[in-house]
Amino acid sequence: MININQKILHVLRNASDYVSGQHISQMCHVTRASIWKHIQALRLSGYDIEAKPHRGYKLISCVDRLTQMEVQTGLTTKVFGQRVYFFDSVSSTMDEAFQLASKKAHEGDIIIAETQTKGRGRLGRHWESLKHKGIYFSLILKPQCSLQHVAGITLVGAVAVSEAIETLTGVRAFIKWPNDLLINNKKLCGILTEMRADLDRVNYVVLGIGINVNHQKEHLLPEAISLKQVLRSSVSRVHLLQEILKALEYRYEQFQQGDFKLILKAWKKRTATLGKQITFFDGQHLSKGIAVDIDQDGALIVKLPNGKMIRRVAGDVAHG
Ligand code: BTN
Repeated sequence: MININQKILHVLRNASDYVSGQHISQMCHVTRASIWKHIQALRLSGYDIEAKPHRGYKLISCVDRLTQMEVQTGLTTKVFGQRVYFFDSVSSTMDEAFQLASKKAHEGDIIIAETQTKGRGRLGRHWESLKHKGIYFSLILKPQCSLQHVAGITLVGAVAVSEAIETLTGVRAFIKWPNDLLINNKKLCGILTEMRADLDRVNYVVLGIGINVNHQKEHLLPEAISLKQVLRSSVSRVHLLQEILKALEYRYEQFQQGDFKLILKAWKKRTATLGKQITFFDGQHLSKGIAVDIDQDGALIVKLPNGKMIRRVAGDVAHG
């Protein structure tokens, strides 16, 4: 639902010069006095809006906060992100997503937090969520696929986020199987896929995405990297999230239509893993081999030193 503040921002954003109070009030169907109050409220939340007598209002700068209003203003998706649950701080957006999904959530709803006190990664790892620096969100999905094919959604996530980053910044992040994004062999983004299912039916899947966006080097572990470090300038987290939602919606639609081949093709174009010597960890055991392919379910095919081929659906790899 678009509120008055969003409408005002939309009008101001699309104008190249000052916009009169009368024009805004006509566009928003409220009085000029009410527009003035909303402008004051927007200023208080960090928007720099100039007001000039006889000319009107001009948007000078916006805040890079991942609030519902910012994310939805200018968002071009049909479904993803049409409902946003924003938290300044939360334990984990995954937990919030599962709570919502069990009650009233719809496919495409997103849960965003500026920081998480118990952000989690794969294999029980902790995910550090520095406030206002990264993007931390969970997307609720209700795929019509069998349990066997759910792993494919992980690939959808990795491909879409990598594509969105490239569209916005021109930088290509490569995919370490199954879904870490790397730049210069350092981790830029982690994706966590969790689900609730019955024996034969997927109820819902939650895709959790964490990206290092505007972190400085000293904020990160030596094996991690941020977009700011690569580009040497800050990136609009709002624009990046909007681009990611667009790419996710596009690739997920392909997945739902059974066009998984297109997703595999895009994944292979961006792989950092195939053709490499790897160490595979399934949560308990380590094994070494060469990553030779991924199959139509997104499973990794590894050639062991004795020539035997093995197939792995879940786990972790280290290159080398
Ligand atoms: C990994 O690399 O192991 C996956 C990391 C996933 C982190 C994201 S941040 C948003 C969402 N909420 C969480 O608690 N985790 C995911």
